[in-house]
Amino acid sequence: MNNRSQSPASSRQLLIANCWPLAADSWLLTTMPNLGILLSGRGSNFLAIADAIASGEIPNARIAVVISNLADAPGLEAARNRGLNAIAIEAKGRKRAEHDQEIIATLQAHQVELVCLAGYMRLLSSGFIQAFPQRILNIHPSLLPAFPGLDAQTQAFEYGVQIAGCTVHFVDEQLDHGAIILQRAIPVLPTDDAPTLAARILEQEHLAYSEAIARVLSGEYQIIGRRYVQKS
Ligand code: GRF
Repeated sequence: MNNRSQSPASSRQLLIANCWPLAADSWLLTTMPNLGILLSGRGSNFLAIADAIASGEIPNARIAVVISNLADAPGLEAARNRGLNAIAIEAKGRKRAEHDQEIIATLQAHQVELVCLAGYMRLLSSGFIQAFPQRILNIHPSLLPAFPGLDAQTQAFEYGVQIAGCTVHFVDEQLDHGAIILQRAIPVLPTDDAPTLAARILEQEHLAYSEAIARVLSGEYQIIGRRYVQKS
């Protein structure tokens, strides 16, 4: 249950409203914001987010719906096992805009306020991004702007970087590009190969995504140019 229609906006809500350039009638942020998760694969980042909500590390939020473009995504099954709404909206054979519209409608039907891409392996149409302005997050397994796109950990390893990591960022219309909320870095060890490096980056991803979501939901930040600036 949520309290969307109750009580006047809290100071936290007003802070967020001030930060996010949303039309007055389109911001729905509440004291118990609804998250929507989009995934295509195993869903380990989704599960880390769900655990962080359960433990209170992400306070006062709930996962309203988990959506996948692939009906057999293990992450969808994991969501069902946790009693969450888990919906497959398959993309095959459909135009991107039409597929995205169905996802937007599903997110809106579940009153989602913040969309978290967690291994969602499709580009979003501009219509999707405009439907959730500054309210879509993504996690990428490199220290952006280095190594955008697929197989970022292998790209980084083969390039020979000595510091690798992950980035949580707002989603804009370019691939792996929007304003950076948080990054976590790790050293590349002499004993690493690409899979061991990817595994250690993934551990950091699970910490970083929840921390970034909590930051965004707190509303205690401003975006200045491309810069995420935490309010003191
Ligand atoms: C993660 O490495 C994430 O950074 C990338 O896709 C992968 C998803 O893994 N965008 P999982 O499905 O969350 O385990």
